[in-house]
Amino acid sequence: MDIPLLDLKAQYRSIKDKIDEALTRVVESQQFILSREVDGLEREIADYCGVSEAAGVASGTDALITVLRVLGVGQGDRVITTPFTFFATAEAVSALGAKPLFVDIDPETYNIDPEKIDELLQDTGHGGSLDFARDKRNAVKAIIPVHLYGQCADMSRVMEIADRYGLKVIEDCAQAIGASHNGSRAGSFGAAGALSFFPSKNLGGFGDGGMVVSSDRSLIEHIKKLRVHGSRQQYIHEEIGYNSRLDSLQAAILRVKLKELDAWFEGRRAIAARYDEVFPSAGITTPKVAGGNTHTYHQYTIAVDERDELLRYLNDKGIAARVYYPVPLHLQPCYRDLGYSGGEFPVSEKAAGRVLSLPVYPELTEEQVEYIIQTVKGFY
Ligand SMILES: Cc1ncc(COP(=O)(O)O)c(C=O)c1O
Repeated sequence: MDIPLLDLKAQYRSIKDKIDEALTRVVESQQFILSREVDGLEREIADYCGVSEAAGVASGTDALITVLRVLGVGQGDRVITTPFTFFATAEAVSALGAKPLFVDIDPETYNIDPEKIDELLQDTGHGGSLDFARDKRNAVKAIIPVHLYGQCADMSRVMEIADRYGLKVIEDCAQAIGASHNGSRAGSFGAAGALSFFPSKNLGGFGDGGMVVSSDRSLIEHIKKLRVHGSRQQYIHEEIGYNSRLDSLQAAILRVKLKELDAWFEGRRAIAARYDEVFPSAGITTPKVAGGNTHTYHQYTIAVDERDELLRYLNDKGIAARVYYPVPLHLQPCYRDLGYSGGEFPVSEKAAGRVLSLPVYPELTEEQVEYIIQTVKGFY
């Protein structure tokens, strides 16, 4: 049996009429740039995330870049984040001439460990033992917690620390639209949240797309200016911006999918619950949902010592499991100049060698779920 990691064709089939109708609506309007569709989606996503404003942009990466820029992050600044994330989180920092300052993750949730943020700021704040640590601390402007795999980082604690040190928080919500922490949704804790509509995301378009959510109206207005070449009035450019707009076609598709999202999460949670029941008895570490959190299972990620062997076995049996992410960011070739070395973030490095994500999408049939369970058990 062949089971893809995600079956977007099956998802499309389940909502084909609504999607096709939305596409026709845009094609007939011939309004492809921004437009009422984007305005509508911005309103709907802002409501969904529990914030007052939103700005559609061309990708999740651009959402991060534009927010960081509006918050004043630039050359020489440092931004604290996790090394255990997709590269774009740190890339956005680097794109502005700033540098990522990594801290290790929590071993159970794989999200940034707030205590490590506190330690870093305290160590260096006390004068630090090293000049370089002091320099780094003085340059810290912001923190980017990433809500990895569809679960919020410990935002209560992150916000408490950020407020104490006067740091801005940008939530990387690329994998976690709809996830909540103590009753509030991802994107509603910090100065802003960055969403990605990359096709494989829980809310995915038919191409690239992203959005910034925030309750800071002036921040969102600024992003809406940056996304159209720094212009509010046509042909008057107040600053150097970008061409980073969300297409109307994407917005129309995403408006259809947003209505399905909560039902899809229920489907994901039901499959995750099945896995949770059977895998621990095989000695597999299943995803831990932290207290106060709801998980949206963008990925269902297990951890095992014999990860590479299990991955090969599953792939041979037709199950498209995958590793997110095999190389932590502090060990990426392009970040050699940051001066990190292996062993510096042991929790992230250990996770990179043990994690494995399994298919968990709501379109999986009962038979497919059973096949995945029996195949994993068969390996052991
Ligand atoms: C954690 C994280 N941050 C940022 C991004 C970047 O989003 P995009 O691909 O839409 O630029 C992604 C996804 O690709 C992601 O998973």
